[in-house]
Amino acid sequence: MKKVKVMSVFGTRPEAIKMAPVVLELYKYPDAIEPLVAVTAQHREMLDQVLNLFNIRPNFDLNIMSEGQTLFDITSRALLGLDKVFSSATPDVVLVHGDTTTTFAGALAAYYHQIEVGHVEAGLRTQNKFSPYPEEMNRRLTGSLADLNFAPTSTAKENLLREGVDSEKIFVTGNTVIDALYQIVRADFEFTDALSRIDFSKRIVLVTTHRRENLGEPMRQVYKALKAIVEDFSDVEIIFPVHKNPKVREVVKEELGDLERVILIDPLDYEPFANLMNRATLILTDSGGVQEEAPALGKPVLVLRDTTERPEAVDAGTVKLIGTNQDKVYGAAKILLSDSAQYRKMAEARSPYGDGHAAERIVKALLWRHKFLSNRPDEFTN
Ligand code: UD1
Ligand code: UDP
Repeated sequence: MKKVKVMSVFGTRPEAIKMAPVVLELYKYPDAIEPLVAVTAQHREMLDQVLNLFNIRPNFDLNIMSEGQTLFDITSRALLGLDKVFSSATPDVVLVHGDTTTTFAGALAAYYHQIEVGHVEAGLRTQNKFSPYPEEMNRRLTGSLADLNFAPTSTAKENLLREGVDSEKIFVTGNTVIDALYQIVRADFEFTDALSRIDFSKRIVLVTTHRRENLGEPMRQVYKALKAIVEDFSDVEIIFPVHKNPKVREVVKEELGDLERVILIDPLDYEPFANLMNRATLILTDSGGVQEEAPALGKPVLVLRDTTERPEAVDAGTVKLIGTNQDKVYGAAKILLSDSAQYRKMAEARSPYGDGHAAERIVKALLWRHKFLSNRPDEFTN
């Protein structure tokens, strides 16, 4: 039988982390699959960190990133670049991930070329088109172009069914981020370089922020709350790997620069970051991926957003949505840092997002769809 050419397309750090297990799994079937990788490099340094860690060498690199890029820049550069890539590589299937602008442009470019689209991490919804912005529309638009939907959980599958997606085209797989996490986290991991100055006798509060809807005043409010937390809790150390976006970095520096027990560092490689999550007492974040990883490590997460497309951990009690208001952020963190019963209630390890085998299920579904396997693969149950 003719091999299927499967091209994985991604551009940012989280897509790379979550597609790496899929790319590596695709390489295990050389008789059935010809795996190809194209990166838009919507992120440059943060993408390269992940490519190096998983030893992935893209076949195509569009290198589109520019400082202060707009959604128009990313969409148009990715779309035009991928047109050329698809024309020359002629993939049979294009896999995109999640909800970034690369995701949407990748799915649209594949559709224009009439190539089958597989959407990894399909079906997440907040039902609010501006929160997160533009991710909620990126995933809905990608969903409407997809031929195969790899939903991480049954909740995501239900969202797709409600939108009229044929259940034959949906596979519940678990989230591939848990595959990546389980490969990377080890109890004896040693922290080096900038992280060797962390005082692990203190309670570590790990922070990340990057969402577009939080840029400016909402982030400033969060940082003021962080400042109050280190002032009030002398046994707390905040570790904050600051996103490369200059609009984030500027406000972080203004509010948190030169404070005792606030360690501001560049974005970390995934390996030290994941292991640092594992050593943290508490995590404050507006990230999507961190909301999925932390529950698997038994770490409470305060989510600096008003909505989430990941309700499973909120329902399980390990994640709380608190928004960005200074008093609310301070109040929620204070409770967890001073009330051990409340802390214990949130700190139970649960993994509603996956069991570490999502990439295997995705690749098996592709093999089944292209008739290399006779039985539809088993699904993940959370
Ligand atoms: C993007 C995604 C968001 C995802 C996030 C993960 C869109 C619209 N947004 O948001 O869904 O959650 O990535 O982090 O697709 N920069 C660098 N080096 C890097 C990465 C970023 O310098 O390695 C700077 C650049 O100045 C760039 C800016 O960060 O212009 C913003 O990057 P961009 O991809 O536009 O948006 P993010 O906020 O990172
Ligand atoms: N992450 C990382 N280094 C960091 C901060 C985060 O490797 O300094 C990882 C994190 O573990 C998660 C992913 O990056 O897997 C999340 O990326 P981000 O928060 O940028 O995007 P989102 O998940 O919100 O789309």
